[in-house]
Amino acid sequence: MSQLAGKTIIITGASSGLGEAMARKFAPLGANLVLGARREDKLGALSAELGENVRFMKCDVTSFDDVQALAQLALDEFSTIDILINNAGLMPLSFFSEKKLDEWNQMIDVNIKGVLHGIAAVIDTMQAQKSGHIINVASVAGHVVTPSSGVYAATKFAVRAISEGLRQESRGFLRTTILSPGAVESELTQTISNEKIAQGIDKLYEDAIRAEDIANACLYAIEQPDEVDVNEIIIRPTKQKL
Ligand SMILES: NC(=O)c1ccc[n+]([C@@H]2O[C@H](COP(=O)([O-])OP(=O)(O)OC[C@H]3O[C@@H](n4cnc5c(N)ncnc54)[C@H](OP(=O)(O)O)[C@@H]3O)[C@@H](O)[C@H]2O)c1
Repeated sequence: MSQLAGKTIIITGASSGLGEAMARKFAPLGANLVLGARREDKLGALSAELGENVRFMKCDVTSFDDVQALAQLALDEFSTIDILINNAGLMPLSFFSEKKLDEWNQMIDVNIKGVLHGIAAVIDTMQAQKSGHIINVASVAGHVVTPSSGVYAATKFAVRAISEGLRQESRGFLRTTILSPGAVESELTQTISNEKIAQGIDKLYEDAIRAEDIANACLYAIEQPDEVDVNEIIIRPTKQKL
């Protein structure tokens, strides 16, 4: 039997890409899934496909109330929260000179505050359970900065700092994992409004790996024994340079 059988897993940003691939990977292994994202129709279709142990709720991670409601749904339906995957994110790359303040603020709200909202929504439950696993999806951009990635990278550096701080404060009851992918097939690049940058990224993404590859890496971290905490995974296409 899989280690995931009967475990309750919340996934934010589950309506496409990595989050959807994780849901597809974990459902057949017997996990109870609670899926959140803004596109409720996509979550509904995915949930219907994946079977009876899947619940979903419209959830904008920039709203703490929404994220708290998602965590409450998990408790109401399955009584525990074993794993939270803070996966929701966006990547509208641009140059500083373009002053795309709305996009900068949106990245800060979703990629950083969304992660904090997730942590705040589950930490009391995990502390009371004396167990839990919080997986934060960062990026290779949380390790490497390139022109046009400054703000996105800043949010992902922040995710890594938050995860490490959480790990140090919660030793003994909480496992924390930072998942840092390189180029992966998903809808992520569609948020880039700068045409030239988008073209360059399309070229990089010709070598992109599958979202399922990231779900497999995530599963590896989850399946380790309770006393083993895989703190960080960086996973790139073999051909990726930076
Ligand atoms: N793909 C890559 O190459 C790559 C590389 C490194 C890191 N990552 C990270 O992986 C994570 C997942 O991205 P992805 O590649 O799977 O891209 P994606 O296909 O665009 O998925 C992003 C997900 O985040 C959700 N989302 C966006 N804003 C949200 C909000 N305000 N509230 C709740 N959900 C929101 C989207 O759902 P809705 O639009 O329905 O809300 C969607 O489900 C992100 O954190 C991204 O930074 C991806």
